[in-house]
Amino acid sequence: MLFDFAVVAPENRYKLLVSTVVPRPIAWVVTQDLEGRLNAAPFSFFNALSQEPPLVALGIGGRTAGDVKDTGNNIRATGEFVVNLVPASLAEQMNVTAIDFSADIDELAEAGLTTAASARIKPPRIAESPVALECERYMMIDVNNDRSIVLGRVVAMHVRDDAVMDAAKCYIDTPKLDLIGRMHGRGWYARTTDRFDLPRIAVSEWAKRKAAE
Ligand SMILES: Cc1cc2nc3c(=O)[nH]c(=O)nc-3n(C[C@H](O)[C@H](O)[C@H](O)COP(=O)(O)O)c2cc1C
Repeated sequence: MLFDFAVVAPENRYKLLVSTVVPRPIAWVVTQDLEGRLNAAPFSFFNALSQEPPLVALGIGGRTAGDVKDTGNNIRATGEFVVNLVPASLAEQMNVTAIDFSADIDELAEAGLTTAASARIKPPRIAESPVALECERYMMIDVNNDRSIVLGRVVAMHVRDDAVMDAAKCYIDTPKLDLIGRMHGRGWYARTTDRFDLPRIAVSEWAKRKAAE
């Protein structure tokens, strides 16, 4: 079936996109406002886009026209944020931080989480998260009056010690992180425990396979 986005309403475009572009990694974003008040929220319009410069992207919507949630407002004001990644063991806490609290509520305290100081930026990371990317705002694209795309430049990264296999070679034990992704609907998630290995094929290897047919 064809869904022509020229005639599909925005709320239905959302349903089509988020129920098919899956699983999406979850950026669990910590920011601070200009007074230093903490804020945390998950965002699954998220991915890593490039290594030079090292860029990640977040898609932040607003509750009302002109709004880009507390996270977007804080990134606009301070230019700094931490993207923490979400292991299965912290799914419930992540969900608590998605409650529509007012700007003065610290979602991390509500979820019973603690923070650890960042190395290069002011907002702290979530101490319980196994991976944290310290980011500086690289670009903020105001797509319309209640939707912004934030490009963040990763300036430092933390990985829990037991998941680092070889620090010099930057080898990470990814399965050990036990990260989750967001699936469809209002509450479906995927674990990353069902994996398979499919190495890339060199042109020479492909030629050999064709010759052997
Ligand atoms: C798993 C998950 C993923 C989410 N992804 C997004 C997203 O990509 N963009 C967005 O605007 N809101 C997203 N939300 C909703 C926000 O987390 C929620 O509106 C939150 O309260 C915003 O907090 P803030 O106002 O403190 O920034 C998501 C919620 C959950 C549970």
